[in-house]
Amino acid sequence: MPRYAHIIGWGKYVPPNILTNEALAKTVDTTDEWIRERTGIAQRHIASSKESTAMMAVHAAREAIEVADVNPSDIDLVIVATATPEYMFPATACLVQDALGASRAGAFDLEAGCSGFMYALATATGMIRGGMYNTILVIGAETLSRIIDWNDRATCVLFGDGAGAVVVRGSDEPGGVLASILGSDGSGGELLIVPGGGSKHPTGPDTVLSKMHTIKMSGREVYRFATRVMASASRQVAEQAGWSLDKIDLFIPHQANVRIIDSAAKALKLPPEKVFVNLDRYGNTSAASIPLALCEAIDAGKIKPGDHLVMVGFGAGLTWAACAVQWSTAKPGALAPPRAAVSRLRYLWSGIKSIVARALRHVDAAVSKLIDIFERKPPEE
Ligand code: ACO
Repeated sequence: MPRYAHIIGWGKYVPPNILTNEALAKTVDTTDEWIRERTGIAQRHIASSKESTAMMAVHAAREAIEVADVNPSDIDLVIVATATPEYMFPATACLVQDALGASRAGAFDLEAGCSGFMYALATATGMIRGGMYNTILVIGAETLSRIIDWNDRATCVLFGDGAGAVVVRGSDEPGGVLASILGSDGSGGELLIVPGGGSKHPTGPDTVLSKMHTIKMSGREVYRFATRVMASASRQVAEQAGWSLDKIDLFIPHQANVRIIDSAAKALKLPPEKVFVNLDRYGNTSAASIPLALCEAIDAGKIKPGDHLVMVGFGAGLTWAACAVQWSTAKPGALAPPRAAVSRLRYLWSGIKSIVARALRHVDAAVSKLIDIFERKPPEE
């Protein structure tokens, strides 16, 4: 019996703090008019010092878990797609796994630039369809504001922060993620890069002074690449799913620039009502952009069971990726108060367990040290 991978839960988080084009124009040489005309962006959400990639990922994941109505201990794997992880290591996914109390889950981060969420969804689908796992949490989360050069008007106007998550579950019922394609052209790696902080240019005073820890982008080249690849990847994935382009009910592209989206939609002959756009409010949130758009499309009543969706991303790498999804999950009602309370209690309990596990690790280390001291033989005369 073939297995299918269905998206059964979804959730998002964006920082409450909004940075408008007008506010940005007070700090860098740009205008609201230029940004809107060239990109379609009007504002973006920016993380406060208390918000970070893991924290936003956990919020989005909790919402997705509630919609899916699964227990965190049922989750087999947590994948966090991000280019702005909490730390170099441990993986952000491990922090999320612990905060959720997903005690049985494996966890890893996946880095494929703005295509990261699509790469992660394709990975989860393959694992479910191959029978390795049954329930996988896939998250796209970014705090790009921390790697932006706020004096570079060519990049600082484009990006925002946020997180989106889905729960993917195996079933014998046909539907769900039916086809995926992944692509890479590393020869374009330098077109979109954060050059500092890795093994090639480890962090030091020189990398900090020359701002090598911020995004460097050749906008025009990335633009050309994006317009080409968005349409071709979408066409390819629809074909793999056995769909003609007119079968697509909703196209959810990576939200980088409205002109790139319009060009892809035109090439695919998709009318505006079949194309979901929310970048005016969020800017480019990289790996979070497609799950954020998916959540908003569901909230807006634009997706119903049976619909054919194509989601497509492109980004640093250079990478691109697309998935064809036959939607199968009805939008649930609000969580009943007793269930909401149980889920709050569950997270409180997993928080306590995590604190106790950390404390026990300290006690264990202290006791081992004491035993070492007592067992140490006196030096021989
Ligand atoms: N405000 C005012 N003027 C600006 C700004 C700004 N914020 N930014 C650039 N300009 C100026 C440039 O200096 C240039 O001036 P010049 O002609 O005097 O040299 C002029 O505007 C035109 O610049 P272009 O770069 O040609 O502008 P373009 O129309 O290409 O738009 C943009 C630039 C928006 C960056 C576009 O190229 C683009 O969207 N590229 C794709 C970027 C992208 O999607 N990146 C994300 C990839 S995903 C990931 O993995 C992170």
